[in-house]
Amino acid sequence: MSQAKITVVGAGNVGATVAHIAASKGLGDVVLLDIVEGLPQGKALDMAQAKGVYAAAGNLTGTTDWDKTAGSDIVIITSGLPRKPGMSRDDLLAKNAGIVKTVTEQIVRTSPNSFIIVVCNPLDVMTQVAATVSGFDKNRVMGMAGALDSARFSCFIAEDLGVDIGDIQGVLMGGHGDSMVPLPRFTSVAGIPLPELMARDRIDVHVERARKGGIEIVNLMGTSAYYAPAAGAIKMAEAILNDSKSIMSCCAYCDSEYGVGGAFVGVPVMLGENGVEKVIRLDLNKKESAELAASISHVKELVSVVETMI
Ligand code: LAC
Repeated sequence: MSQAKITVVGAGNVGATVAHIAASKGLGDVVLLDIVEGLPQGKALDMAQAKGVYAAAGNLTGTTDWDKTAGSDIVIITSGLPRKPGMSRDDLLAKNAGIVKTVTEQIVRTSPNSFIIVVCNPLDVMTQVAATVSGFDKNRVMGMAGALDSARFSCFIAEDLGVDIGDIQGVLMGGHGDSMVPLPRFTSVAGIPLPELMARDRIDVHVERARKGGIEIVNLMGTSAYYAPAAGAIKMAEAILNDSKSIMSCCAYCDSEYGVGGAFVGVPVMLGENGVEKVIRLDLNKKESAELAASISHVKELVSVVETMI
């Protein structure tokens, strides 16, 4: 792609961090959009000035005007309410469905050929909302969760083993919630299967912590995480823009894969210039399959609730 255009919807913590990482990496022209007049303009101006320090390619625009986002290659939706202590991701359903619907309608109008990466919660359901409302081909709509959840899982493993986090390849599937399915058997440390290096009870501790990784941070600081979620969204955008055919977990449309039967859930995929180019099929054992089935049915329940709202 020539100079890419990346729109980030929502100039809150996640959106601003996504825009800043994209800008600092020189991924392309970045448009930061919000409904609060002054906020995206101020943050984009600040980021543009940061480029005077670290010099990276690409323009930055902060705006409340959707027309300025026209012709974007990738639109990253971060707008929506974040969690507060005591809230589950599912508690955000009704409010965020309305926001994602409105945002998606604007994306269809202004950037009909874009890829959509959804970051707001409940993630799998909001990805479905963006897909339904946009009517885009399913490979062009995806949600960011696996990149974050597997990074969290990797972080805990690396700390425990005292090894370079770059050596850990964490693999996770399922919905982005308490029912997510970290897969130790497919997680490796420099190619060595995790169970070879870590006792089962320690692995279980990290699986549970990864499942609760979001709320651990909400409880510490009163709002949702944003550095790692933003980094996850950028990893996906980079794979698409660079056509890198990277394999990572993300929320993608599955039909016959894993017996999902038509829903967006976390699965390992290959990302390239066509978005989700392939869903990787792993040979899951009975326990893993059962956990995945439970997670999928939870996502589907929420989707059936949201379908009445959009
Ligand atoms: C989290 C939010 C972004 O997992 O869902 O931190």
